[in-house]
Amino acid sequence: MSFPKNFLWGGATAANQIEGAYDVDGKGLSVTDIMTAGNLDHPRMLTYKLDDKMQKIPSVPGAGLPKGAVGAIDPNEYYPNHVAIDFYHHYKEDIKMFAEMGFKNFRLSIAWTRIFPNGDDKEPNQKGLDFYRRVFEECKKYGIEPLVTISHYEDPLHLSEKYNDWQDRGMIDCYVRYATTLFKEYKGLVKYWLTFNEINTAVMFLDMFGGNGTDEDYQHAYQKLHYQFVASARSVKAAHEIDPNYVIGNMICGIVDYPLTPDPKDILLNFHSWEKNIFYCGDVQCKGKYPTFAKRLWDEHNVHLDITDQDKQDLLEGKVDMYTFSYYMSNVVTTHEVKDKVDGNFTAGAKNPYLKYSEWGWATDPDGLQYYLELMYDRYDIPMMVVENGLGAVDEISEDGKIHDDYRIDYLRMHIKAMERAINDGVDLIGYTTWGCIDLVSAGTGQMSKRYGFIYVDRDDNGKGTLERMPKDSFYWYKKVIESNGKDLD
Ligand code: BG6
Repeated sequence: MSFPKNFLWGGATAANQIEGAYDVDGKGLSVTDIMTAGNLDHPRMLTYKLDDKMQKIPSVPGAGLPKGAVGAIDPNEYYPNHVAIDFYHHYKEDIKMFAEMGFKNFRLSIAWTRIFPNGDDKEPNQKGLDFYRRVFEECKKYGIEPLVTISHYEDPLHLSEKYNDWQDRGMIDCYVRYATTLFKEYKGLVKYWLTFNEINTAVMFLDMFGGNGTDEDYQHAYQKLHYQFVASARSVKAAHEIDPNYVIGNMICGIVDYPLTPDPKDILLNFHSWEKNIFYCGDVQCKGKYPTFAKRLWDEHNVHLDITDQDKQDLLEGKVDMYTFSYYMSNVVTTHEVKDKVDGNFTAGAKNPYLKYSEWGWATDPDGLQYYLELMYDRYDIPMMVVENGLGAVDEISEDGKIHDDYRIDYLRMHIKAMERAINDGVDLIGYTTWGCIDLVSAGTGQMSKRYGFIYVDRDDNGKGTLERMPKDSFYWYKKVIESNGKDLD
């Protein structure tokens, strides 16, 4: 047994990290448009105007802008997403290269502000709708199935200010109208959709800084999640009414936690960490109701949620059709004091002595992927997709003018083998889209030098470069992998 015949091999991206053209053809401002560049030592900042003065604060997920602040672009700052890799004007060339690798599947997201520039406009922006139609048609030309994330970390700035980052149920209607517009518009061109990217990060990151989240932070995060769950469920229902063939997935940031020691306190902490970070969102979106442990999580932080009977009904009727997740790394939790700490993708914990870490501190752990797949498939029993996986690394152009990224090939090979083992153990895995199949702007740091792609893009951390595309060694390797349906991994 190995990869199923119609396995969806491909790659993944997000609008704000590739498109650029941030103010072109009627697009409004998204929260990512006021985010500066950062690096490992300096966080990305959000820029805004308050009391007529330009100011900035570190961009922390869910924290939003201070009261009364209006997001603004500071002409003295550099915003990497404004141009990104200019996919907006290079999409034909890029999709052609994906087709050359044999992609069956291309995950991309739609920028909400291209469709509804403010998020709550009366009519959609025709030029925005036309752009994605052209992109999907280009994919179809090569037999590539688009997998579309409706919201990938980029709410319209106007809505974020008006509703204080999902603190008002008005957001639900805006989202459902946006999603329904897409379902109607792209019927026949798109089959697979994801409602919210890494929805669980709203609570996950609160522990990142040593569990310092205040009760107010938790109230904000759980309320935001509830409104997003309802928005997702109502959209799933709408999608199925518009086209019963639509397949809609959730999308979870899949971090595998391990206990550091066999101390029962560590085991319990680990279990509770899975409940809060991973199962909480998965259960609501796949089972259609809150799990029993939700009450304990809310009580721990005096959380009181606005949940109506209609919401509960919608959650039940709007369960997702497939479970999708990103997987990069595992994490170690403990109740004990540790000297060796690391932080990675929305998590922080003890260093695992059995694993190697990337330059950005992310642990390479393919067994964790197998573990995650088997655990989740048993829990939900619906088809699964790994929609992000990859190694962010610095690439050097060699003397022969090429990029020999064997480290990336090694990373991906190990994870593909792990997926194969999970399939052999019975997991219904239907697709795999590696993250950043073409180099793009890092979401975490805003860097271009943290590269994930099979395709190199000539652009640096300061916005210099020709934007020229070039295949890396991994490009030819992945082509072979797809051609052989995962058999030839050498
Ligand atoms: C995931 C996000 O968390 O990780 C992507 O869905 C992101 O948007 C990816 O780019 C990798 O993270 P980073 O910080 O290396 O870009």
